[in-house]
Amino acid sequence: MYDSGKIIAGLLAFVVFATFPFISNMGKAGAKPKPSIDTPVINQMQVKQCVESRDFMRTEHMQLLNNWRDSVVRNGDRIYVNNAGQGVNISLQNTCMNCHSNKKKFCDECHNYMAVKPYCWSCHIAPKENAL
Ligand code: HEC
Ligand code: HEC
Ligand code: HEC
Repeated sequence: MYDSGKIIAGLLAFVVFATFPFISNMGKAGAKPKPSIDTPVINQMQVKQCVESRDFMRTEHMQLLNNWRDSVVRNGDRIYVNNAGQGVNISLQNTCMNCHSNKKKFCDECHNYMAVKPYCWSCHIAPKENAL
């Protein structure tokens, strides 16, 4: 007849084996970047929004910053009108980094993970932060 003990042990072993890659990945340091929006300015906002939607920012912020630079440097235009029709002052330092004053825990969190190193901060002023 069946040896239910062995079957159960076999099933258990299978479950553990099948889910191991999962379990062993849980809570690993440096697994996925978690950019923090815990900053004084953002904490004061009633509606926590970026200059464009989060999805847009996530995928397009590099392009947006390029366009912002061109707008100022080529056209002398310092106002950006977003999708919601609001005018935003174009400034990496005074707009982006005013809200995202935690560059290390925000920008760098993703960039380190992706191994990108924007070269902007040799000229543009990064927010003052305590060393980690
Ligand atoms: C008025 C404050 C404010 C300004 C200015 C601002 N942000 Fe944001 N940003 C936010 C908030 C709040 C979120 C989170 C939005 C959400 O969760 O819907 C966010 C989200 C983002 C995200 C997506 C993060 C994620 O976890 O997906 C990126 C990237 C980003 N911002 C970059 C920028 C850049 C670059 C600029 C300047 C061009 C900028 N932000 C300007 C407040 C701001
Ligand atoms: C949600 C993750 C995330 C956050 C938050 C984020 N970035 Fe990025 N950023 C990326 C990724 C991913 C790339 C690389 C995109 C690529 O290579 O196509 C990138 C690229 C860039 C680039 C272009 C660099 C290059 O060499 O091409 C700039 C500039 C930049 N980010 C600025 C910022 C600034 C400023 C902030 C903070 C205000 C910020 N990013 C926050 C994910 C993020
Ligand atoms: C070699 C120095 C230098 C580097 C490196 C540099 N910039 Fe700039 N950037 C400038 C100067 C100078 C201006 C013009 C400032 C003005 O007229 O307000 C400017 C203007 C800008 C502006 C519009 C005005 C403002 O104050 O924000 C944006 C946005 C910008 N740069 C983004 C970037 C980004 C993003 C990077 C990195 C990918 C970068 N810059 C790297 C020198 C630099």
